[in-house]
Amino acid sequence: MNNQTIIGTPLSPTATKVMLLGSGELGKEVIIALQRLGVETIAVDRYPNAPGHQVAHRAHVINMADGQALRALIEQEHPHIIVPEIEAIATDMLIDIEQSGIAIVIPTARAAQLTMNREGIRRLAAETLNLPTSPYAFADSLDELRTTIDTSIGYPCIVKPVMSSSGKGQSRIDRTDEVEAAWQYAASGSRVDQGRVIVEGVIHFDYEITQLTVRAFNEQGTIQTYFCEPIGHVQVHGDYVESWQPQAMTPTALRRARDIARTITDNLGGLGIFGVELFIQGDDVWFSEVSPRPHDTGMVTMCSQKQSEFDLHARAILGLPVNTSLLAPGASAVIYGQLEAEGIAFSGVADALRVPQSDVRLFGKPESFKRRRMGVALVNGATTDEARSRAKLAASCIIPTKE
Ligand SMILES: Nc1ncnc2c1ncn2[C@@H]1O[C@H](COP(=O)(O)OP(=O)(O)OP(=O)(O)O)[C@@H](O)[C@H]1O
Ligand SMILES: [Mg+2]
Repeated sequence: MNNQTIIGTPLSPTATKVMLLGSGELGKEVIIALQRLGVETIAVDRYPNAPGHQVAHRAHVINMADGQALRALIEQEHPHIIVPEIEAIATDMLIDIEQSGIAIVIPTARAAQLTMNREGIRRLAAETLNLPTSPYAFADSLDELRTTIDTSIGYPCIVKPVMSSSGKGQSRIDRTDEVEAAWQYAASGSRVDQGRVIVEGVIHFDYEITQLTVRAFNEQGTIQTYFCEPIGHVQVHGDYVESWQPQAMTPTALRRARDIARTITDNLGGLGIFGVELFIQGDDVWFSEVSPRPHDTGMVTMCSQKQSEFDLHARAILGLPVNTSLLAPGASAVIYGQLEAEGIAFSGVADALRVPQSDVRLFGKPESFKRRRMGVALVNGATTDEARSRAKLAASCIIPTKE
């Protein structure tokens, strides 16, 4: 689709149908953005009543890592466009689906496949595209991990399962006697493939950013790359707790960040938004990883941009024009479950919304865990510093409770 994009009527034979594979808080917002454009939406997740299920035309529960189950559902629903929202998907089947012309996969099935495994995307970035990254090596056993740290990576280093996200199974180690625990922890946090890890040298960055990058059709009907203002963020145990936009950068660092983002997204191809994660020290920039989809740190764009990362994704994948401009400095702060329980309640929402220029999203997840992300505070300010302190204040007002 391009300038000729036509959108039909949902729930009629002309409907434009989009299927989300993964329907967490990010998928929920993509669905809402699509719904506003009159798209018929189908939300898929591994458990019932996921956030996106609650706002889609239809909801399905399947194991998306099961290729046969995935194919059967796609054949049943006949979506025009398939939007992966998570990494743990049978990507071989997505490649099949794409090749047989059954549906378009966003941004491409190859991008989904390469980014679901740290090895695929890291080798592409460092070895094929020659982008600067941390030093790295892979290991399939504890012995191999020890040897590779001793002979090439050194300490401190970070050990991560090749298949994991949100910091699961990831540890930073400083000494030889910590290697075994890191290996065990990685095996426990791995999503699919038990027992292969990447070990990375630690980059001593001044700050880290997400460079949201959009590939969308321009007026001439060709795909163009658009950049959002950089997003700064703070990660704790490999999971984001706070983000803000814009992050101040030197002109050289910003140019390098965007060159890297353009290089990796040009290679991945297709249409849609990408979150390119980069480490910055002075004018130096390292590529870390990329999500071929909206990024959790990008939730701040729901208050800081004219079109949020979800609006941008929805427009780009439909072949529509995008506007990446900043509206006002903003910040997001995560609201954690803090409890292990089903069907929790939240008090203090009114207090949070009394913080100047604040807004709140509660994702509606049926079950809470202590470190599960249940909501986010979104706040504007005259500066990002003001927005950050307001966002933290608003998030802290919200108290998860149970009967
Ligand atoms: N080589 C490194 N040097 C310094 N810090 C690192 C390095 N690798 C990871 N980190 C820190 O850990 C965070 C999480 O790492 P990474 O993005 O690789 O994990 P993840 O599990 O994919 O997390 P997410 O899914 O939240 O992006 C990074 O944002 C950064 O703060
Ligand atoms: Mg990351």
